[in-house]
Amino acid sequence: MYKVPLSDIDMGKAEIMAVEKVLKSRWLTLGEVTARFEQEFAKYMDVKEAVAVSSGTAALHLANLVLGIGPGDEVILPSMTFVATVNAVLYTGAIPIFADIKGLDDFNVASEEIEKKITPRTKAICVVHYGGYPADMDRILAIAKRHGLRVIEDAAHAIGAELNSQKVGTIGDIGCFSFFSNKNITTGEGGMLVTQDLDLAQRARRLRSHGMTSLSWDRLKGHASSYDVTDLGFNYRTTEIASAIGRVQLRKLDTNNIKRHKITEEYKKNLKDHKGLHLPFTHYFGKPSYHLFPIILPNQDQRDRLQTKLKKAGIQTSIHYSPVHLFSYYRKTYGNATGDLSKTVDVAARELTLPLFSGMTKDQIRLVVTTLIKNLS
Ligand SMILES: Cc1ncc(COP(=O)(O)O)c(C=O)c1O
Repeated sequence: MYKVPLSDIDMGKAEIMAVEKVLKSRWLTLGEVTARFEQEFAKYMDVKEAVAVSSGTAALHLANLVLGIGPGDEVILPSMTFVATVNAVLYTGAIPIFADIKGLDDFNVASEEIEKKITPRTKAICVVHYGGYPADMDRILAIAKRHGLRVIEDAAHAIGAELNSQKVGTIGDIGCFSFFSNKNITTGEGGMLVTQDLDLAQRARRLRSHGMTSLSWDRLKGHASSYDVTDLGFNYRTTEIASAIGRVQLRKLDTNNIKRHKITEEYKKNLKDHKGLHLPFTHYFGKPSYHLFPIILPNQDQRDRLQTKLKKAGIQTSIHYSPVHLFSYYRKTYGNATGDLSKTVDVAARELTLPLFSGMTKDQIRLVVTTLIKNLS
């Protein structure tokens, strides 16, 4: 066990009681609790529609599908992301086109790099708000408008983040959230798709459950007695158990994001102006959700040595991210046909993610800071 894990969850009595209530209700899959979770999530986001699904990946897949993305289409996205962003495009038969990031100060996709990658086949841009730091949506939306493209926001890191006083994830056509265990709120596994477009939401709802026109829940409640299947759908349903946890977690989100902000400031105060250590995101757009605390070392060798030393001291760190295009599968698929992604590759070789979670203690922060400074060479 680590003295300081990379992330931790805030799970307590309220979640346990909410789950107990669901178990006693004897209805465990998609039903009233999930409907409530969706309503509360939509209200929090100030968006018309929220569709709860089984994972962030499912939300991304459905987002691509309901926007009509399919074989032959191209979707521009960063390689500096988790593979799910890219896989969601591949599942539809479309082609992911990687765009480079801004650089060492901001790991979000660069708007001018997006523009370079647009072809007649481009259908959409999928933006990832890295570490909870909002991407440059004003410019990206302007590009999308100019070229008639749809915009998906992968807001897996960015729940509660804002840009121009608008919640991140509600700025493009569709926003996708993840409730995986290391995220700012968690339901174990789970995800949410949000949109202002009722038609897109209805299609996502139908595809979430096999393309069926009614659900088991509707039939139990007597709202429907049969169903038709209108599309090739999936089982991307979530459970009432997950939704019950999600409702409690959502109520804690703003407070926990403030705690993450304070920890981030404490790190910054202690780690700034150290030779051989660069802090990204000292300037950023809007209000972040402080999902990750990334640092940059002078080179890969020093990064790897520091990671080993921190591990020996009981501190877990990670790398966000090994670029998607360099994993074996994508190399096999693309070869070298990705264009220039040198900033992505450079950051990936030198980046290290320090522990950050809302319940992190002062002692844990101090241990990370002192061990890190001691081992900077
Ligand atoms: C940027 C990003 N996109 C998508 C996902 C996929 O979410 P999930 O694990 O809930 O499928 C994750 C996290 O796991 C992520 O970090």
